[in-house]
Amino acid sequence: MILVVGANGMLGRDVMTLIGAAARGIDIEEIDITSLESTDRILKTLKPKTVINCAAYTDVDGCETNTETAMQVNGEGVAHLAMVSREIGARLVHISTDYVFNGSKGSPYVEDDAPCPLGVYGLSKLAGEMNASFNPDHLIIRTQWLYGLHGKNFVETMLRLAKEKDELSVVDDQIGSPTWTVDLAHAILALLKTGHRGIYHAANSGFCSWNSFAKAIFEETGLLTRVTAMTTDALNRPARRPLYSTLDCSKLKHDTGFEPQPWRSALKAYLNIRSNNY
Ligand SMILES: NC(=O)c1ccc[n+]([C@@H]2O[C@H](COP(=O)([O-])OP(=O)(O)OC[C@H]3O[C@@H](n4cnc5c(N)ncnc54)[C@H](OP(=O)(O)O)[C@@H]3O)[C@@H](O)[C@H]2O)c1
Repeated sequence: MILVVGANGMLGRDVMTLIGAAARGIDIEEIDITSLESTDRILKTLKPKTVINCAAYTDVDGCETNTETAMQVNGEGVAHLAMVSREIGARLVHISTDYVFNGSKGSPYVEDDAPCPLGVYGLSKLAGEMNASFNPDHLIIRTQWLYGLHGKNFVETMLRLAKEKDELSVVDDQIGSPTWTVDLAHAILALLKTGHRGIYHAANSGFCSWNSFAKAIFEETGLLTRVTAMTTDALNRPARRPLYSTLDCSKLKHDTGFEPQPWRSALKAYLNIRSNNY
């Protein structure tokens, strides 16, 4: 059995759907990964062969003020999962982020590049990566700019704001790869099937700025909302973000044969499914 922790989250829900009957999902109502006692009890009762950790404290700006919670969920929580999964002989799959990098490399990051987080979220996720490796049978999958049907995300924010305003100002100096949670779920399963260990990068291919992403969302949905450019500095959010944190996913393709589709076609597929869901 594959245990998906954080199964009610945006990624967790799509991972559950893709795995189907072999998956058992749990979330905060049943397990609190910040508690070793809770993690130990649940994992030893359910005895999974694989644990996929999609649980996290994902509020990037909130992490700057709630440092303790960030470190407890994203750092210590992963240590608990690693300790207990190792004890019961289960493999641990852990999801991490491009925010472990500072974005100053100037070209796509490979798995071996030195992390250097700019904020508390990235720091806590880096602690989680280190802790995950306490279980030798681990997979750490870094991804970025996620959107999907089951959570707050940039696509939904843009579509909501477009109902309220004719013109939106969106940052054009942060570059990344918008990634559909369904494609990431396929990458996770491809890695699980091939039995690889270690760190992998997984994101939809190609890259853009948030500004170009917003324009693409409106083009694909036929909305006439105007998109103007602004800088990250002008937006003045509490957490610093990497300006260029595109992930090189060639190791994923080389080792599994799976290559996530280009971000624009993923966006089209998402909007198509979304329009049938609302
Ligand atoms: N979203 C992105 O753009 C993005 C980008 C790069 C990487 N990632 C990573 O991808 C993974 C999935 O992200 P996501 O956006 O799907 O996250 P999400 O929607 O915020 O889901 C996370 C889930 O974890 C649960 N959770 C929080 N604290 C917990 C605890 N102590 N014990 C058990 N469960 C707990 C949350 O419950 P509550 O909702 O009740 O708190 C939620 O259901 C995370 O590791 C994240 O760091 C995300």
